[in-house]
Amino acid sequence: MQQTSTARIEDAAAESPASFPIPANVYAETVVSVRHYTDRLFSFRVTRPQSFRFRSGEFVMIGLPNAEKPVFRAYSIASPAWDEEIEFFSIKVPDGPLTSHLQKIQPGDTVLLRQKSTGTLVTDALMPAKRLFMISTGTGIAPFASLVRDPDTYEKFEEIILTHTCRDHAELAYGVELFENLAADPLIGELTQGRVTLYSTTTREITPRMGRITRLIENGRFYEDTGLAPLSPATDRVMICGSMHMLKDVKELVEKIGFEEGSLNQPADFVVERAFVG
Ligand code: A2P
Repeated sequence: MQQTSTARIEDAAAESPASFPIPANVYAETVVSVRHYTDRLFSFRVTRPQSFRFRSGEFVMIGLPNAEKPVFRAYSIASPAWDEEIEFFSIKVPDGPLTSHLQKIQPGDTVLLRQKSTGTLVTDALMPAKRLFMISTGTGIAPFASLVRDPDTYEKFEEIILTHTCRDHAELAYGVELFENLAADPLIGELTQGRVTLYSTTTREITPRMGRITRLIENGRFYEDTGLAPLSPATDRVMICGSMHMLKDVKELVEKIGFEEGSLNQPADFVVERAFVG
């Protein structure tokens, strides 16, 4: 297993007061735990305001109370809509206006959340189908960490295939743990039994499964490895989340097979969302 560090709120000093006034329409929430996976990736959980409602797969704007006008960035919520806390999975950008500070948060610190969530990676934007493919790279797995833990996803789809591609093996740990913890989850463990496949690949470190997901789908290796029938709009829906280039390439790939992009107004075969950084 990877070298990780976990801090819980119990070990933390008392909550540090925000030194700037909290802007309007913003929740000030307390960091419950922080987990560093690599020098580029970390996850954290914050308290959830009782009135905060969202759909699994959506994102929210988050910031820190460290300036009169705090910098807010869009973050996909990684926890499901039923969870009592809110989880995020973040990259650390050394000079990022938000993540350079956010990566230093400790349990007990305050994180700001804008009150309205939104996003396109919601099951309501897709027509029902047999299989749901969630294609992600890097922190693009976050909205799928939410959806894969939501019972509603299993009402709409029989089978879920989550793909996660990262530069190296250590960056895959978040997805692997998510997958391993599904079975033991008291709420959704039974429901997910035998219905979720995780397909993780690396591109810059040699591992048994290497390559960009686009190439592995196109050359058939993905189907050989998983034993799955090829992607088809007749049986499948696709959600895509990653960098701009990845979105473009995967979108082109599925459109070539005949998939059509959906929205809440017009549900169809696939939806796309950028994994945000900064
Ligand atoms: P690669 O190493 O070949 O660039 P990042 O950490 O830069 O966001 O990348 C996350 C993962 O996404 C990496 O494994 C990267 O592969 C992969 N990736 C980057 N661009 C694309 C793309 N256009 N299509 C598919 N995968 C991509």
